[in-house]
Amino acid sequence: MGEPTENLAMRSQSERYQISEIHQDKRKIFLDWGDGHQSRFHYTWLRDNCYCSDCGDPKHGEKRFLLLDVPVDIEPLSVRWDSGKALEILWKPDGHRSIYNAEWLRQHCYSATEREHRQHRPILWDSQIVTSLPQIAYEQVRTGDAGRLQLLEHLRDYGICFVRNVPPQRVELESFAQSFGPLLETNYGRVFEIVVDPEEKKKSVANSQINLIPHTDDAYQYAPPGIIFFHCLIANNDGSGQSTFVDGFQIAEALLQEDSGAFDLLCRYEVSFRKYYSDRIDMRYSSPVFCLDSCGDLRRVRISNLFPAPLDLPEAIMEPFYAAYRKLMQLYTNPKYCLKQGLQPGDMVMFDNHRVLHGRTAIGMQNQRRHLRYCSVDRDYFYSSWRLLNQNLSFQG
Ligand SMILES: [Fe+2]
Ligand SMILES: [Zn+2]
Repeated sequence: MGEPTENLAMRSQSERYQISEIHQDKRKIFLDWGDGHQSRFHYTWLRDNCYCSDCGDPKHGEKRFLLLDVPVDIEPLSVRWDSGKALEILWKPDGHRSIYNAEWLRQHCYSATEREHRQHRPILWDSQIVTSLPQIAYEQVRTGDAGRLQLLEHLRDYGICFVRNVPPQRVELESFAQSFGPLLETNYGRVFEIVVDPEEKKKSVANSQINLIPHTDDAYQYAPPGIIFFHCLIANNDGSGQSTFVDGFQIAEALLQEDSGAFDLLCRYEVSFRKYYSDRIDMRYSSPVFCLDSCGDLRRVRISNLFPAPLDLPEAIMEPFYAAYRKLMQLYTNPKYCLKQGLQPGDMVMFDNHRVLHGRTAIGMQNQRRHLRYCSVDRDYFYSSWRLLNQNLSFQG
C-alpha cells in the first residue's frame, strides 16, 4: 500500500522548505532545496532584504536604511545554515548579521518557475457559467470564516459572486460591505439607490429605464471603484430589467486569439472618457482598455461605451484602432459571453469592477419596478481582508 496522500503532501511541503546544499560565487548564493529546486539569490538582494531590528521593523517590514548605504559589490564574510531551516550571513566590511528563514526565502525565490508558480490564474467564464454560478448563502458568510473565505476566493477566481438571502435593511448591506473595508464615497453618496427616477437620471444613467450595455463603472476616473455590491430589493415582475455580466478577462483572451494585433493596440493606446453634468462634475481620464503587468498578464480592463470622450490618438493609429475597438465591442455584446440574471429580492451580487463588466436590459414601466442598492469598496482593502483571513484559517488548520 502507498503512503496516505496527506503524509505525502506534508512531506513534500517540508522538503520544499528544507535547504539541503549551499554554494556561492562572486555575486550570488545558490540554495539547493529538499525537493530538488535551486534558488539563486544575489547578495545585493539578500542585503537589501535584511529585516533585522537595525535595518527596520521586523514585524511590519518597515525599512530604515537606503540601498545606497550598502556597498555596490557587497559580499558575505561568512555563510552558515542552521539545520536547513535558516540562513545566517555576516556581511563585509562591518560584519552586519542577517538571518533569513528558509520558508521565507523559498516563498520569495525569483527563479522563473517560482515566479510563474506564484502568479494567480483567474478562471475565465462565459454565458455557460449560468449552470455553475459562484454563489453562497448570506448566512454562511455572516457567521463563519470558512464561508467568508469561499466568497473571497470566488471573487479572486471568477471576479464575481452571488450571495443569496440578504436581509433588505440598508444597514445590513452597509455593515456587510464595511466588513471588507471603508465604503467609497462617490458623487452619488456612499450607498446609492438604483431606481427609475426621472430627477435622479440626470445624475446617473442607472436611474433611467434604458438598456445599459455591459461596461465597467466610472471609467472616467483615475481610480474607478474596486468591488461593487448590488443588492436587489425589488425585481420587475415582467422579466425586464435583468442584470448582465461579462468577464472582461475572457473577452481579452478571445480577442487575443482572434486578432493579436487588435489586442496589442488596445493595450498600447488610450481610450478617453468623460463624465459631465450641469456645473458640478467634469471628470476625465484616458487609459488603455487592457492593462498588462510586466509578465504580459492582464491586470485590469476598462470598458465603457457610456461616457466616451473623443479619441485622441496619433493620426496613423486612428483607423486600425477603430477596427480593433469594433472587434472588442462585437465580443462584449455577443450573448455567448454574457451571463444574464434576473436578480430577485434578497439577491446580492459582488463583482470586481476592474475585471467584470455589468449592464442590464431595459426596465418595463409597470407598477412593480426594479430597485437595486449599490455601494463599493476599494480593491486594496478587499484583498487585504482575503489575505488576513487566509492566513488565520491556515494557522487554525
Ligand atoms: Fe454601471
Ligand atoms: Zn540588518
